[in-house]
Amino acid sequence: MNDLDILETYTNIIKEHTSLVPDIAIILGSGLNSFANMVNIDAEISYSSLPDFPTCTNKMHKGRFIIGTIENKNVIIADGRLHYYEGYTPKQVIMPVRIMKLLGAKTLVITNAAGGINENFEPGDFMVIEDQISSFVPSPLRGYNIDELGPRFPDCSNIYDTDLRNLLKECAANLNIPIKEGVYLQTQGPNYETPAEIKMYKLLGADAVGMSTSMEAICGSHCGLKICGLSCITNKAAGLSDNKLSDHEVIEIASKSANNFCRLLFDFIKKLNKTLNEELKECEEEEEFQ
Ligand code: HPA
Repeated sequence: MNDLDILETYTNIIKEHTSLVPDIAIILGSGLNSFANMVNIDAEISYSSLPDFPTCTNKMHKGRFIIGTIENKNVIIADGRLHYYEGYTPKQVIMPVRIMKLLGAKTLVITNAAGGINENFEPGDFMVIEDQISSFVPSPLRGYNIDELGPRFPDCSNIYDTDLRNLLKECAANLNIPIKEGVYLQTQGPNYETPAEIKMYKLLGADAVGMSTSMEAICGSHCGLKICGLSCITNKAAGLSDNKLSDHEVIEIASKSANNFCRLLFDFIKKLNKTLNEELKECEEEEEFQ
């Protein structure tokens, strides 16, 4: 089986569980998985029920797809991400994104917990991802290109959709949730950074640092998904505070921010534009009417 056959096998297994076609795909970051409770669940498929599919070794990540609705929008949630630091290949890391695309998703919302590099960022802040630096991790598109999904040499000059970024900021303003915007940098992990590395990342233009997201965003952009990224700043990055970095701190702050995170994402999904299909149908109906 080639790579596309494997992805289609997973897609077909998932389709046996639900007839719902997801429109919006969401990847939940560490400590942010309570958002899954906001879904009207139609089907739940654990990664372990898919043959040879990677499992989440990080206990904060459940490892399941949830398909359902939020405010009449069809969503699929990757409740549990596969990280490069877990030892998975870049191609494995992006499998959930490709599966969600093949199931019908048009928009991908990627969320994560991140360390703040920008001195104006405080733990508990949210950051809309404006752009990313992925030069410290391999490209997930390295190797054989699946031409059916996207081009060999994809443009990356506009990975994060401007309209989606604006909508996220608008929702945050309406809800009185302070929101920042900036550049996300992905490291390989699993170790946190050294203060010297953080100084270098700052010089390079990064505002926040984490161990995920940019590979998924490249993959999503390659296969034509509209991408939106939201970071929950859980700590000041290494060397910027006296605190020792730990996953306990990351999870604690992310969990404290979960309420605002859920409100913000819920409102965003509620206000997301209608699907292209719905818009096309409306155009056709208008044309018929004229
Ligand atoms: N560095 C890397 N990943 C992270 C951090 C950090 O400071 N905080 C949360 N995820």
